[in-house]
Amino acid sequence: MPGLVLPAPAKINLVLEILGRRDDGFHALETVFQTLELADEVAVEVRPGDGIGLVVEGADLPAGPENLAWRAAAAYTARHPIGRVAIHLRKRVPHGAGLGGGSSDAAAVLRALARLDPDPLPATDLAVIALALGSDVPFFLVGGTAHALGRGEELTPLPDAADQVVTILKPPAGCPTPAVFRALSDAERGPRAARGPTAWAADLAARGPAGILANRMAPAAVRVEPTVGDLLSWLADRGVPHLLSGSGSACLALGILDPPPGIAAWRTRFRPRARLDATD
Ligand code: C5P
Repeated sequence: MPGLVLPAPAKINLVLEILGRRDDGFHALETVFQTLELADEVAVEVRPGDGIGLVVEGADLPAGPENLAWRAAAAYTARHPIGRVAIHLRKRVPHGAGLGGGSSDAAAVLRALARLDPDPLPATDLAVIALALGSDVPFFLVGGTAHALGRGEELTPLPDAADQVVTILKPPAGCPTPAVFRALSDAERGPRAARGPTAWAADLAARGPAGILANRMAPAAVRVEPTVGDLLSWLADRGVPHLLSGSGSACLALGILDPPPGIAAWRTRFRPRARLDATD
């Protein structure tokens, strides 16, 4: 009964730019992703039979087809039936936070199944399955520091950013991603041109993460969830490099700091690409 335990790391976007609205209703993005040591744990076993079993520990989340981890197993086994997939998910990454928790769980299931399958689906098929599950899922097949265009699937792995301690801070309310995209103003929505992976890699190397932090979605997230604005103002008053994470509601601060009352905090650091599957 082969089994595997993999981490499902959280991500932050060091840069998140909106390039414009696409005909399919999605937005064209330019982003620099970074995985964090903060991670869920995903145990996957393949057993005789068929179907999918999912147990979720540590969060009140659905354990059926509404869960992206379940859907990832369904999508893999629909293309390549390898048996019954049993998943045990230990949640540590807060959800509704812009940290990619659900997307990372789904990608970890795909990475695990590709390793457990004696005749694994090729990487190109995994990437197609990943994008059908969600815009952030393809990045979690790559990890580390990466530049992305499109919905997030036109990925260019970048050299790992230097080791960096990060504090994640989250107000109690989450930010639903579709609502934040809907709240963008016409001016925020673009169109504007991409700078490309070479320019961002050079800036990151020259200025470090503090020198490139930017998120076009922050004003819209504040309109959707005003407590995010309070947290961003508090961080600005402290003078630390900080940013809204993805579409929120979590924010990141470079370095270590104690959160204000009522704000949950996690101390973590950048996770380099070589540690994508590392459980130690
Ligand atoms: O792909 P994902 O499921 O993460 O997207 C959630 C929602 O966020 C989409 O349905 C869409 O409304 C919005 N979105 C977008 N453009 C993107 C990514 C997400 O408009 N590039």
